[in-house]
Amino acid sequence: MSGLSRRHFLGASAGTLALATAAKAAAKAGAKGGGPFPKDFLWGVAMSAYQVEGAAYADGKGQSVWDVFCKKKGAVFEGDTGDVACDHYNRFKEDVALMKALGVKSYRLSISWPRVLPDGIGASNPKGLDFYSRLLDEVLKAGIEPMCTIFHWDYPQALYKKGGWLNRDSADWFAEYTSLLADKFSDRVKLWATQNEPQCFIGMALLDGIHAPGDKLPFAQYLTAAHNGMRAHGKAVQVLRARAKDPKAMSIGYVVSTQVTKPATDKPEDVEAARAAIFTVGYRGEWNNTWWMDPVLLGKYPEDGLALAGKDMPKFKASDLEEMKQPLDWLGLNLYKAETVRQGADGKPEHIPVPSGYPRAGSDWQPITPACMYWGPRYMYDRYKLPIYVTENGLATRDQVFLDGKVHDPQRVDFMHRYLSELGRALKDGVPVRGYYVWSLLDNFEWSDGYKQRFGLVYVDYQNQKRIPKDSFDWYKKVIATNGRNLFDKTAVAITQVTPT
Ligand code: FCB
Repeated sequence: MSGLSRRHFLGASAGTLALATAAKAAAKAGAKGGGPFPKDFLWGVAMSAYQVEGAAYADGKGQSVWDVFCKKKGAVFEGDTGDVACDHYNRFKEDVALMKALGVKSYRLSISWPRVLPDGIGASNPKGLDFYSRLLDEVLKAGIEPMCTIFHWDYPQALYKKGGWLNRDSADWFAEYTSLLADKFSDRVKLWATQNEPQCFIGMALLDGIHAPGDKLPFAQYLTAAHNGMRAHGKAVQVLRARAKDPKAMSIGYVVSTQVTKPATDKPEDVEAARAAIFTVGYRGEWNNTWWMDPVLLGKYPEDGLALAGKDMPKFKASDLEEMKQPLDWLGLNLYKAETVRQGADGKPEHIPVPSGYPRAGSDWQPITPACMYWGPRYMYDRYKLPIYVTENGLATRDQVFLDGKVHDPQRVDFMHRYLSELGRALKDGVPVRGYYVWSLLDNFEWSDGYKQRFGLVYVDYQNQKRIPKDSFDWYKKVIATNGRNLFDKTAVAITQVTPT
């Protein structure tokens, strides 16, 4: 996500839901073996096609909206583009070798839709398909389980010209694309995510105009696009299950930009106020959870959102909601930060602003709030009752190569230690978290922030494509090797307080 844009705004409203108790059985299972992380926990790293691949015009690839958007004056920091990015397209073997050295169990990647279907539908591109085939083989050869995101924002320009997500047919286009992936890759990929963060590829892209294609549509049209995006998700799930080589092996999820709230104190009234806030649509915009999750997971739009949408809500067939709500195997939470909420004097949730001078990431939108890793999974599990993958979590820092030739990133190590401690706490309390993916393995193209923000465990020198593992790489390697037990080793570091003050 990018810069100033990742403002979020849950707003506050009345109403609380009963506190569901965490699943104690899962906690017990996880606790066996000396730490909260279960034996088969998937420690991973995540990247996405446009952010790392480069080769934007190679081997018959079609254009994506990002290819076009990056060329618009002022759209991206310093005019950066993903034309070359990390040149992962040509260097994927070196990058998979880095993953293997790190010891990760899983790699979350995405497929570039216009690379495999240059016009979005119709004729496929054999060279593009071949790239992913070779990449998947390499990943599997390294003993790493691929998690494949079908769509991580690089929408085909050809389909955008046909109306993109505004066109009702867009759900069928997405289903056609998904069929191709199921046919070609379901022999090797079991873990599938349909879409990454609808808040961004619909909201930031089509309402705010700060992500590709850069439109500022009227609210009613934005809601139509969101509606079709969720229909597309549902159709993709159906297609994956119908066409998979081994349907029983399929494990399918949906990934959201989770807008987390955390209670100001452990008092039940604050816990319930933060719960009410996390499931509130508080304003006419994309930064909420339930607008994107309730239709897909519960088969209905949230009432508060419908009230805010008013006459702008598109008319749709009742069967659309059935189409959206397909059985899922897991929920993917991208977790970066939390807002603090308490019960206000009027009994309603009250959002507490981040104190002045509070620790922040290189990206201004991210205050260091480890508790998002506890409360995000916990509230989401209580409501949607699905196992969880933390599909992204990470920190941008202004890394550089030091005089000794190494890249020291103590902030990232400290950040991950704090955040993973809180994730461990969620597991101890019984939230079924199945895996954790660091954003990201490599520094890469951070959307409209260009190459300014570095999120990698591995530094990339964009002048010569040299990769230099940072200190955090070695640190994460130990976390994986000990299955997270070292995080709780009091002799390694005496943690005084997980949440910074
Ligand atoms: C997420 C995006 C990912 C990356 C991180 C920092 O919102 O899914 O591509 O930009 O933010």
